[in-house]
Amino acid sequence: MRKKQNLILQPVLKWAGGKRQLLPQLQEYFPKKKNTKYYEPFVGGGAVLFHLQPKKAVINDYNEDLINLYVCIKNNLEELIEKLKFYEGKNDSVSYYEIRGVDRTAEYKKWTPVEKAARLVYLNRTCYNGLFRMNSAGQFNSPYGSYKNPCICNEPVLRAMNKYFNENEIEFRIGDFEDACKDAPKGSFIYLDPPYDQYDEQLNFVGYTKDGFTRDDQIRLKKMCDKLIEKGCYVMISNSKTPFIVDLYKDSTKYITYSINTVNARRNINSNAQKRGEVEEVLIVGKLGIEE
Ligand SMILES: C[S@@+](CC[C@H](N)C(=O)[O-])C[C@H]1O[C@@H](n2cnc3c(N)ncnc32)[C@H](O)[C@@H]1O
Repeated sequence: MRKKQNLILQPVLKWAGGKRQLLPQLQEYFPKKKNTKYYEPFVGGGAVLFHLQPKKAVINDYNEDLINLYVCIKNNLEELIEKLKFYEGKNDSVSYYEIRGVDRTAEYKKWTPVEKAARLVYLNRTCYNGLFRMNSAGQFNSPYGSYKNPCICNEPVLRAMNKYFNENEIEFRIGDFEDACKDAPKGSFIYLDPPYDQYDEQLNFVGYTKDGFTRDDQIRLKKMCDKLIEKGCYVMISNSKTPFIVDLYKDSTKYITYSINTVNARRNINSNAQKRGEVEEVLIVGKLGIEE
């Protein structure tokens, strides 16, 4: 993968599980080959995508509001910037709860994609801890964050992202990770950063979508990785270092080996304040290797 070209390009959202701080530790595992087609099926804030800046990529997430934002950054930048500038004057709790409450009204269905995208950025930058959280009805329910000067309209970053999306072959998809990776060709690089497995004693904190991500999904993901590696793709997976995940990837099959590398991360987005801090994560690299 080529080295980062445009240093301004970086995530525009705070995202639970964002990989920005881990990039120096991930760097050594990225494939060296240039012009590889890149797949990121759990793109979130896109820290790895914007670091690598591949020329050809498929980026996907289950969260349609998030992908809608990226599409608007690509196609409707000026309108988006204009709306974000309007929101810059709205960093107070009364405005916050009013804007947050719009998705509880019938009116919201009539909002344009750009209006929805601007609201997402505004809420993300002003809500408590950048936690994108939905209730069971799919409505945004994070409390107000009381930040003095949140950066609601980061124009240089938005412009850099618009340029990147328009000057390269970046395809946006919304849906499940398995569908997103189905057409990955031999030789492509797939980075998977799913919602992390929880330690058994942890509460089932579901921070990303109203559906959650179960251990069956983790098993489904591992089986998909097996198939992709057999096809000749280069696969990297991030996860928490739980006994379940270590066990899932410990056995190599006849053709595939997974190396499990420990990385240390500082995590600030956690529902439980006591659990914030340094945690161990794993970076798993899958390789095609036929046993002698
Ligand atoms: C750990 S976050 C990714 C963080 C990202 N790497 C970053 O740097 O911001 C996991 C993402 O997976 C998405 N997701 C959850 N379930 C999914 C599924 N079944 N298929 C695709 N994406 C899913 C969530 O919406 C969330 O954005």
